[in-house]
Amino acid sequence: MLSDKDRIFTNLYGLHDWRLKGALSRGTWSNTREIIANGPDWIIEQIKASGLRGRGGAGFPTGLKWSFMPKEVGDRPHYLVVNADESEPGTCKDRDIMRFEPHQLIEGCMIASFAMRAHVCYIYVRGEFIREREHLEYAIEEAYEARLVGKNNRNGWDFDIYVHHGAGAYICGEETALLESLEGKKGMPRLKPPFPANAGLYGCPTTVNNVESIAVAPTILRRGAAWFAGLGKPNNTGTKLFCISGHVNTPCNVEEEMGIPLRELLEKHAGGVRGGWDNLLAVIPGGSSVPCLPAELCQNLSMDFDSLRDVKSGLGTAAVIVMDKSTDIVRAIARLSYFYKHESCGQCTPCREGTGWMWRVMDRMARGEAHKREIDMLLDVTYQVEGHTICALGDAAAWPIQGLIRHFRPEIERRIDEFSARAKGAPVLEAAE
Ligand SMILES: Cc1cc2nc3c(=O)[nH]c(=O)nc-3n(C[C@H](O)[C@H](O)[C@H](O)COP(=O)(O)O)c2cc1C
Ligand code: SF4
Repeated sequence: MLSDKDRIFTNLYGLHDWRLKGALSRGTWSNTREIIANGPDWIIEQIKASGLRGRGGAGFPTGLKWSFMPKEVGDRPHYLVVNADESEPGTCKDRDIMRFEPHQLIEGCMIASFAMRAHVCYIYVRGEFIREREHLEYAIEEAYEARLVGKNNRNGWDFDIYVHHGAGAYICGEETALLESLEGKKGMPRLKPPFPANAGLYGCPTTVNNVESIAVAPTILRRGAAWFAGLGKPNNTGTKLFCISGHVNTPCNVEEEMGIPLRELLEKHAGGVRGGWDNLLAVIPGGSSVPCLPAELCQNLSMDFDSLRDVKSGLGTAAVIVMDKSTDIVRAIARLSYFYKHESCGQCTPCREGTGWMWRVMDRMARGEAHKREIDMLLDVTYQVEGHTICALGDAAAWPIQGLIRHFRPEIERRIDEFSARAKGAPVLEAAE
């Protein structure tokens, strides 16, 4: 279990002052100037050495991503864009960073921008986040007033930071759709390549990072890459914010060490599974898009990128959705299928048509109104969608269904049997006319 001295977000629950005064007392902004004085290459090397992997879902190494930005600024300015869209169902960590630790994020924006030679940063905040952006804007104003950011600031790197409000579309969390939206267009993902580091915002070199990835950077640089790398496991280092929801006694956000066993995470922080550990049916360990895992795979489950990949799921955003035995798991996954159908931007055929098709079949399967051969047909369609679309929303729609069929096929079949037994015994209805 993570000890208090290793916590990065010491005001995660908003128990203390989130404003500048409180942030200063917790060490934020304490030696930003010295960190910056080490130069961009040193910062990138440190972030690489810390092993930090992106906290937005894919787990891409952050230092490596930063190193893709051109080393010299040419005729196009560089940009840092922070992804605060946080729309993945179950995920609610970035909002608490914005509400209660906004200065850690702002300081991170400044340092990361400097490392990538960007003088401007945009934070793209999910439209529904009202308090979050109020706090963030307030904190940014404080930072300008204290000359921590802005022109000729005390930290020695001219830097402007803007908050942009989204309008509440899940797809705008996808980094290239986010850039389109930021440019004032419809939030539709771009084809890659070119990658944002070559042609991002307004066609200029851009890096898009998750709120948590950026907010942890100052503490890593302050305490040293070795400290961060010493927490967690090799290739899965550091601390991580977990969002625990669903059938636990006390749902919460908590900062823990990467690789903590799932059971310990739930029992130490979320009051355990409702009705006890044996009442667990399944978990979705990383936000709605990763495949669910049945209770038997949860016994000794380590919560990190590689361990979850080994059991054919993923850490994703580390949003742990717990389902006890009262859950109608087929209905639950069908509801997620509806979400992905609703959020598809419609640009590519497999996603536009596939998400609707998968949802309609899932909806019937939840009622048992299906043929057993349709289970394999549905599975086959998920593989036709996965990996054949412009962005990963197609994969996100496919994976929950794959997880369901992999682990709960007998439950789907049972319903189909029940439904057909009922249908056989049911009276034949007269046609209306
Ligand atoms: C459909 C879709 C939605 C996404 N939503 C978010 C989001 O809300 N927040 C986020 O940080 N990343 C989201 N991502 C991932 C981003 O595209 C991107 O990988 C991430 O912001 C990179 O940050 P990181 O390297 O710090 O993890 C989404 C991806 C997809 C395909
Ligand atoms: S996969 Fe879906 S959401 Fe992504 S670009 Fe294609 S249609 Fe749009």
